[in-house]
Amino acid sequence: MKTDVLVIGSGIAGLSFAIKVATARPDLSLLVITKNSGEVCNTAHAQGGIAVVIDRLRDSFEQHIEDTLKAGQRLNDPDVVKMVISQAPQRLFELIDWGASFDSNEVGEFDLGLEGGHSHKRIVHHKDLTGKEMVDTLIKKAGSLSNIRFEDHLFVTDLSIEKSNNKCRGVIVLDNRTKEEFKISSRITFLATGGSGRIFQNTTNPSVATGDGIAMASRAGAIITNMHFIQFHPTALYQKSLQALFLISEAVRGFGAWIVNAKGERFLYKYDERGELATRDIVSEAIVKELKISGEESAFIDCRHLDPEEFAAHFPTITKHCASLGIDFRKDLIPIVPAAHYQTGGIQVNQWAETSIHHLYASGECAHTGLHGRNRLASNSLLEALVYSHQASQKVLEKIDDFTIEDSDGFEMRRSRAYGADSQTLQRIIKELNNIMSFDLLYASNINDKEKALDHIKALQAKLNMYPSAGNQQHLELSNMIQTARVIVEHTLKFRIDSENGYIPNKAFRRKKSLELV
Ligand code: SIN
Repeated sequence: MKTDVLVIGSGIAGLSFAIKVATARPDLSLLVITKNSGEVCNTAHAQGGIAVVIDRLRDSFEQHIEDTLKAGQRLNDPDVVKMVISQAPQRLFELIDWGASFDSNEVGEFDLGLEGGHSHKRIVHHKDLTGKEMVDTLIKKAGSLSNIRFEDHLFVTDLSIEKSNNKCRGVIVLDNRTKEEFKISSRITFLATGGSGRIFQNTTNPSVATGDGIAMASRAGAIITNMHFIQFHPTALYQKSLQALFLISEAVRGFGAWIVNAKGERFLYKYDERGELATRDIVSEAIVKELKISGEESAFIDCRHLDPEEFAAHFPTITKHCASLGIDFRKDLIPIVPAAHYQTGGIQVNQWAETSIHHLYASGECAHTGLHGRNRLASNSLLEALVYSHQASQKVLEKIDDFTIEDSDGFEMRRSRAYGADSQTLQRIIKELNNIMSFDLLYASNINDKEKALDHIKALQAKLNMYPSAGNQQHLELSNMIQTARVIVEHTLKFRIDSENGYIPNKAFRRKKSLELV
């Protein structure tokens, strides 16, 4: 199979890129592939919104830039921060032109929300379903362009790399329905594969977030940066023995909700003067510390003092989900724990979303742009994806006529029976991996424990490698999860050793140094 432009993933990053290239060049063919169906992606789960400076009288780009740098502990790339934040209004209005709708107030202005770490209200949102509104809009828009084709259920087993000149020539895929493996050759390959939350003990991410993009890029030799920067969201709805937890949006705290312990006491002011509106890293760490002291299983969100009608109108999905579990936010506390939410590191890209492999681009959660630094400011990620997919589209449009489709490696189509470990074994290994990948491993454990965790991960990989994997998507996904977990723990160890050696002593920008974390 051949296509001019191959897009892997159908969240905001993949679709907005595809729409731009397809619109500018109707003569090019674009193929968007997903391993499940198009609607299953991290974007669709985003509740909060997009951070954009709209109110230029009270707010400014400079303040959004400062909030982003402060949240990222100034390990961000300042040029990237400036570029992304100053492009935000343009990218938002493009989305609106494509048909997206965002909530407005009684005088017809955007109803701007507040979230942790923002010094102003600047979150543009669609109730508590912003991501879904965006994905629905983008799928409709992309579907109206005749040069974009969608193929679901194609799992990428590897990037196809021409080693002699470090060029990506497309991918090898497994069709999960027919068990056929074949090559898709392309002039440009665009990774928009999302994150890796499913590796962790608890996560807010959907089942597709298995770190595939990181694993395949790392096998291909791409530079991967800062994978230890995993963001935990402090308010995932706690349900004992569930790994995937429902997100209670940060916008709920922005709306005035409190975080309390089992006695109903607020405790965040002990940790930060912003209380509930401190950034996610601070709130998550505070909750973990309090739970260790009290021995309780969860903290709680308290919404009982808020206007119930207004709350339900702003957060209909959260209200409904809580009700389905018998939790009435008007009188009950909502149990919460921190859960892995966002992979802040990733495949290193430049300001045009180009990776260290020629003809290979990356955008969205799988990419590391330098925007977020140590900790992502709330609602900056949809924005980052829009801006970087725009940047990539401009570069691809400039370069694509110089690129050819080459198919010289002679990969033959093959059909295999689904081999691989049986599903019970796979489940057991996933559970073991989840147990290793905890908040404490990243943020509290000592070097010794991290090294032990790394050895354990390597042992899981060896166990899995005892089974042939051909034709078994579940097996291949687990292998990607283990490989990504290994990169995360290796980067965690390197970061820890470097900081103990004075590597991150102050607020200096260290991007060059972090690039060495391959
Ligand atoms: C949330 O609504 O809290 C999540 C949005 C984000 O991750 O920025």
